Amino acid sequence: MTDRIALIDKLNEQKTLSHEEWVSLFEGFTDSDRAYAAAIAKELREKKFGNKIFIRGIVEFSNYCKNDCFYCGICRSNKNAERYRLTEDDILECCAEGYDSGFRTFVLQSGEDPAYPPQRMAELVREIKLRYPDCAVTLSIGELERAEYQLLRDAGADRYLLRHETAVRAHYEKLHPSFMSFEHRMGCLRTLKELGFQTGTGMMIGSPFQTAHELAEDMIFLKEFQPHMVGTGPFLPHRDTIFRDQPKGSYELTLFVLALVRIMLPNVLLPATTALGTINPRGREQGVLHGANVIMPNLSPTSVRKKYQLYDNKICTEDSSEQCKGCIAARMKSVGCEVEVSRGDYSE
Ligand code: 5AD
Ligand code: FES
Repeated sequence: MTDRIALIDKLNEQKTLSHEEWVSLFEGFTDSDRAYAAAIAKELREKKFGNKIFIRGIVEFSNYCKNDCFYCGICRSNKNAERYRLTEDDILECCAEGYDSGFRTFVLQSGEDPAYPPQRMAELVREIKLRYPDCAVTLSIGELERAEYQLLRDAGADRYLLRHETAVRAHYEKLHPSFMSFEHRMGCLRTLKELGFQTGTGMMIGSPFQTAHELAEDMIFLKEFQPHMVGTGPFLPHRDTIFRDQPKGSYELTLFVLALVRIMLPNVLLPATTALGTINPRGREQGVLHGANVIMPNLSPTSVRKKYQLYDNKICTEDSSEQCKGCIAARMKSVGCEVEVSRGDYSE
């Protein structure tokens, strides 16, 4: 037995590893290490969720952003990005279409758009919850202050996604401009949890300057934070960002990390992300085989999909929400799984 196989067993038994152990797991891992972790992760997923994969309909309602993350295609200094903003009516129409296709979670995602301040978002959330009381609303609209998160929670928002991006401050500072703060972001995550949101966080795999050291810290942070959801996909360069020439993240490492997250946090909601489906045509299916149990097809109108490009060559930009739904169902079936149409809340 190799040292890494022993470490995967140890993680499965103790649900925690030291920094040094994480580093040695990530450095020089092989396909057979990954297959070993995948088998355990898949079994844990099946024990908790059977063969059911939750779907969430995502509405990317605005690509305006006041932030300037170096990796992101909709950062404010990208003058080539064609900006768009859906109205409340547009968004409600996406929800209506999604509801009819069986979605019971709506994820509203945007850049940090000052034209959609928390008060306006709260009204929208109220309206969605009024129309669809049996649905969960997830927000992914970035960093806010406690009182603003409170407002959204009071309006009925159930969940919030805010990736920490990296658990190492020095690394965070290499990925973001100096006006963005690591402390503030981490503070937001703690606040979200305190306010009772089902909270999702996560990191890109292979973001520029990331090494096994950073990934080890990410895993330790995830263990300590105990998120309800973990979103993680490969870094993919965008042609209009300063990271345009940086190499993309590793597909195999992304799958390995997914499996290790499932082993460490057996009950977590773990999406097979769009970035994973972009880096490899069978990425999302492989994600599920490595322990992922959530897929988030796009509900945005086809007319704007191409404009929400965080990275190059994003998939599904030509397909209608009905097409994506059918496509996902077939893909899941091909790996022995079934799409589950229920809210899919976190449970211990
Ligand atoms: N490649 C992969 N993922 C990206 N994200 C942003 N830009 C990229 C990129 N170039 C991820 C970030 C963000 C989430 C919405 O998308 O982790 O939190
Ligand atoms: Fe969108 Fe396959 S999920 S086309």
